[in-house]
Amino acid sequence: MSIISRRSFILAATAVGAVALAGTMAFAELPKLAQKDTYKVGFAQTESNNPWRIAQTESMKAEAEKLGYQFVYTDAAGSAAKQVADVNSMIAQGVDIIFLAPREEKPLIPAVMAAKKAGIPVILLDRNVDQSLAKAGEDYVTFIGSDFIEEGKRVAEWLAKNANGKSKIIELEGTTGSSPANDRKKGFDEAITAAGGFTIVASQTGDFARDKGRQVAEALLQAHPDADVIYAHNDEMAIGAIAAIEAAGKVPGKDILVLSIDGGKEAVQAVVDGKINAVVECNPRFGPKAYETLARYAKGDAIEPWVINTDKFYDPSNAAAELANAY
Ligand code: AHR
Repeated sequence: MSIISRRSFILAATAVGAVALAGTMAFAELPKLAQKDTYKVGFAQTESNNPWRIAQTESMKAEAEKLGYQFVYTDAAGSAAKQVADVNSMIAQGVDIIFLAPREEKPLIPAVMAAKKAGIPVILLDRNVDQSLAKAGEDYVTFIGSDFIEEGKRVAEWLAKNANGKSKIIELEGTTGSSPANDRKKGFDEAITAAGGFTIVASQTGDFARDKGRQVAEALLQAHPDADVIYAHNDEMAIGAIAAIEAAGKVPGKDILVLSIDGGKEAVQAVVDGKINAVVECNPRFGPKAYETLARYAKGDAIEPWVINTDKFYDPSNAAAELANAY
């Protein structure tokens, strides 16, 4: 997207009242961060309805406490509009820096730009924003997170090697418009198409939520009774899908393969129990890396646009041994 259209998007967002923003100011320099003994840090979380989010928040809070930083926390409860308001409230409270886990890629752009205009640096955590509308090093400092495309690809590669003739896939997508949903779909769909011999019979959002995942899986299993693989974009939906498979009188992990991403304790236990076949980890323990990046930025180091988290992989070969390490 050109500079002009980026400007138009931001001004349009302003016009609908998302945030007060002057178009020209949105392209000023990235705000600096002074080197200090302590900071007032904001963490704008998307929601707290699953163990992954809770582990991420705990890691951010515990590490801030360890460093003696003041921790200002908000929970957008699954609403991008509330998350924009949360960021505006942090700006009003005069935080030094904002860690933002943007629920969706586009609606959080005005929040990033408002912080920039207010002279407050933003570090994106775990989810990214639309790269045609905001850029690391220009509008926000960096994105710290996993490679979601690679996560989806790793699931597909495992399936291609271990399918044993199963081939009809139901895909449970994450929150529509979020970077993990977009990228986990892209990584998986491209790799499974390249492998050949598989069909994605249905792909629908379960909003990263357990009960929604269960409901969607139930409906899709009824519509596609021959489906024999469920790929869920996160553990919560995979655990919901297990309930749906059992309700349909089938055995999860055997009649229908179940594949997931996140690697929380409950899902890794399900691998041990044979109900989930494989899980790619998405590491939620952001605290140490987040504040180390803050310190590097305050020191004046050049920060790479993407600070990549590396993820483990769990299957029957290592799940029991790794269980104690899962969050
Ligand atoms: O952004 C990471 C994803 O968000 C996790 O996979 C999911 O469980 C969470 O809600």
